[in-house]
Amino acid sequence: METPKILFVCLGNICRSPMAEGAFRYLAREKGIDIELDSAGTGDWHVGEAPDQRMQDTAKSHGVDISDLRARHFTPADFDAFDRIYVMDESNYDNVVKLARGEEDRAKVKMMLNEIYPGENRPVPDPYFGGKQGFEHVYDLLTRSAEKVLNDL
Ligand code: 4NP
Repeated sequence: METPKILFVCLGNICRSPMAEGAFRYLAREKGIDIELDSAGTGDWHVGEAPDQRMQDTAKSHGVDISDLRARHFTPADFDAFDRIYVMDESNYDNVVKLARGEEDRAKVKMMLNEIYPGENRPVPDPYFGGKQGFEHVYDLLTRSAEKVLNDL
């Protein structure tokens, strides 16, 4: 099997998509799966920043270290570099698909939670303006998604 290349996209690239990248990286290592992973944001306000401290702390409490990740902006070149692009909500979906150069690009874009809730288009809720519980919920949803996707490879 060729090494799968997966990109995760949210708005700021400091909460949900780095958590997705971290959860996939952690579980892929545990399962001995060779995979290429990255994450990006549709907004550029946080470019260069480490993940939100609250997301880092939640991940760390589960043994997942995401402190090395740095935010970057999604670009159309990402359609060439990745096989699949998982977005966290419908707004991310619209923003990414707007940049697609054709059907091949568009077909790579998928809602993350459709992996565990097929066809429901459920969002990974943005935890940025909420409390600690929101970050735990994001961790849980993304770890379950990672488990499913990696087992299906
Ligand atoms: P993320 O969360 O999209 O999961 O990284 C957000 C981070 C920052 C902002 C919004 C959402 N912001 O408005 O700065």
